[in-house]
Amino acid sequence: MSQRKPLIAANWKMYKTANEATAFVQAFAPLVKGHTRDEITLCVPFLSIPAVVAATHGTHIHVGGQNMYWQEEGAFTGETSAAMLHAAGCAHVILGHSERRQFFGETDETVNQKLHTALKHKLVPIVCVGELLAEREGGKTEEVLLRQTERSLAGLTVETARTVVIAYEPVWAIGTGKTATPELAAEAHVLIRSQVARMLGRETAEAMRILYGGSVKPDNASALLNQPEIDGALVGGASLDPNSFAKIVTYAQS
Ligand code: PGA
Repeated sequence: MSQRKPLIAANWKMYKTANEATAFVQAFAPLVKGHTRDEITLCVPFLSIPAVVAATHGTHIHVGGQNMYWQEEGAFTGETSAAMLHAAGCAHVILGHSERRQFFGETDETVNQKLHTALKHKLVPIVCVGELLAEREGGKTEEVLLRQTERSLAGLTVETARTVVIAYEPVWAIGTGKTATPELAAEAHVLIRSQVARMLGRETAEAMRILYGGSVKPDNASALLNQPEIDGALVGGASLDPNSFAKIVTYAQS
């Protein structure tokens, strides 16, 4: 069995006020009490981070941001720094989510700059990669995944790569109800891991956690998460409800 501890991450996107976020944690925390098989993190909107950090105090539930800027500080109106996230109590940060790439102009290069700044501030980066539907249908999946992995992770060393997490999120599966089959997801994970191995060596690649994301739900979580190549999940829609997210976290191991 793999030594990689699964990470189940909620990505709330632009949902929930601080009060709604607190109510979620009050309902969710008892449902996963004592569940230490998987690492759990809630990546919530910036404004809810303090409320969620307070509400999860004394539990093993972590908190994360959904984005950050790569500069340390400065005149960058509307941006949030890695130091701010860390000081607020975040352990994780999602980088390069496909919605950031699609709507906010993020590229592999900006994701890479953010990655290095996140690591400097002791945040665990969850770096998203994944092909568009047209790329999959055009037979470009392999090329896209290898390129995104190479460019997004450029400049890492065996030492700095230690905490890095990758999330494979086929863009056609996000919010669409279409899930990659466990086999198809596992195939993509093997490709991504092989690229990490070329860059940083087999040992680092074997230790790196690769999550699957894209329409993960309580009824498909177990099949996906029991694939040895899949080291956890990045969950959007189904993470907004405490019962549904708790069911995913406590998926049956086979
Ligand atoms: P979804 O989103 O679970 O709603 O498909 C996943 C994600 O965007 O991270």
